[in-house]
Amino acid sequence: MGLDEGKLKIIDSRTGQEYTLPIRDSSVRAIDLRQIREDPGEFGMLSYDPGYTNTASCKSRIAFIDGEKGILRYRGYPIERLAEQSSYTEVAYLLLHGDLPTQHELETWDQEVLENSSVHENVKKFMDGFLYDAHPMGVLVSTIAALSTFYPDAKQIDSRSNRYRQQVRLFSKIPTIAAYVYRKSQGLSFPDPDWDLNYSENLIHILWSGTRRQPGRKESKVLAKALDTLLVLHAEHEQNCSTSTLRQVASSNADPYVSVASAISALSGPLHGGANEAVLTMLDEIASSRRIPDFMRRVKAGEQRLMGFGHRVYKNYDPRARIVREIASNVFEVTGRNSKIDLAMELERIALDDDYFVKRRLYPNVDFYSGIIYEAMGFPPEMFTVLFAIGRSAGWLAHWEEFMRDPEKRIARPRQLYLGPDETELVPLDERLGRARGEFA
Ligand code: ACO
Repeated sequence: MGLDEGKLKIIDSRTGQEYTLPIRDSSVRAIDLRQIREDPGEFGMLSYDPGYTNTASCKSRIAFIDGEKGILRYRGYPIERLAEQSSYTEVAYLLLHGDLPTQHELETWDQEVLENSSVHENVKKFMDGFLYDAHPMGVLVSTIAALSTFYPDAKQIDSRSNRYRQQVRLFSKIPTIAAYVYRKSQGLSFPDPDWDLNYSENLIHILWSGTRRQPGRKESKVLAKALDTLLVLHAEHEQNCSTSTLRQVASSNADPYVSVASAISALSGPLHGGANEAVLTMLDEIASSRRIPDFMRRVKAGEQRLMGFGHRVYKNYDPRARIVREIASNVFEVTGRNSKIDLAMELERIALDDDYFVKRRLYPNVDFYSGIIYEAMGFPPEMFTVLFAIGRSAGWLAHWEEFMRDPEKRIARPRQLYLGPDETELVPLDERLGRARGEFA
């Protein structure tokens, strides 16, 4: 890794000049393109990559994805094995520490997380200031960013021990804050975590304690296990929109609270974490399998998208989608069957058999079924992305830490291809007649 693997020869047809670029890790350095110039005074060649479809912005050892084959591994461990055999806190330990914990390490870690799970009373007051109908993602973003003001020492990002302290704090408090976000929307009080419960049991406890939804002990265990597996599945996914946003913000040496808040903001959009909410809206609109053909016609005409389908990286079945589908049946045993699952499975069956989707290699992604499970558990759709954010917090923090240690870390500063006007004379305000320029006309 990192050694010269060969050379890439480029001939510039404008000048006839030949350039030799070293290939390392199956890639060329974008900066090596800069030497390619038509005239010596020119800035040099840039690579143009809207949406970063073919640009590696960092080196990472956290997650591996092979989208063609439908493979996802965290630190080398296949997602299927982790979902089957590991708890979410165990997976978070793996992501943050680099390998799975021993029994003793896990017990110590779980205890550390529990002990940090309560929030300052002022955080509760801060959260109480939001309107009852504030979107939960807006409340989550703001509260996580506000933690930066509660822990000003977080700015000391050069200290390894300090970074670790902040990561544990943030990781431990996110589920508590997320549950408070839900309780705020329901006009409920903010109970403290229960130290006799594990991470996911606590999440369920804080969410529904003292409400008519509070599950019994047995139901609570089943729901906590399902939630825990969903958190494992959402824990990490390399350079997606939110993680690369986090790295971008962290590149200015921003503390982990504001960096994670920026990642949560990126996650809130319907093309990213908001997709499962959009899936339910879509299923509500379709309502009956009789209306699937008409819906599919509109999708294929480009009038709308089949939400929960397609992925920038996976051009095969998202391995997480398969596991989510399996979790659904366990949850329905406790909550009763959500009839939307039948509609979703019918949509999947039709889409996987349809040329439009086959040709474009569009398969269900992790969010196609997760919203149906969350709805069955009693979460309003606005909370789905909040649950995603809890899970992804482990991955975000692992990336934040990896980036802080990266010897090649530099402030992110992409280039642009400027297509605007050349130098233009500024006409004084009182002499300007209403003339609109091209794109604004
Ligand atoms: N439904 C219908 N057609 C689709 C869909 C879809 N869900 N997704 C992609 N396509 C089509 C596009 O229209 C395009 O067709 P064309 O070649 O005829 O123009 C082709 O497939 C390629 O699509 P792109 O938009 O270029 O794919 P991209 O990689 O940029 O987008 C994305 C990926 C954003 C996830 C897209 O598939 C999508 O919008 N899916 C629905 C939203 C969704 O489920 N998002 C969750 C992603 S997973 C996550 O964030 C956890």
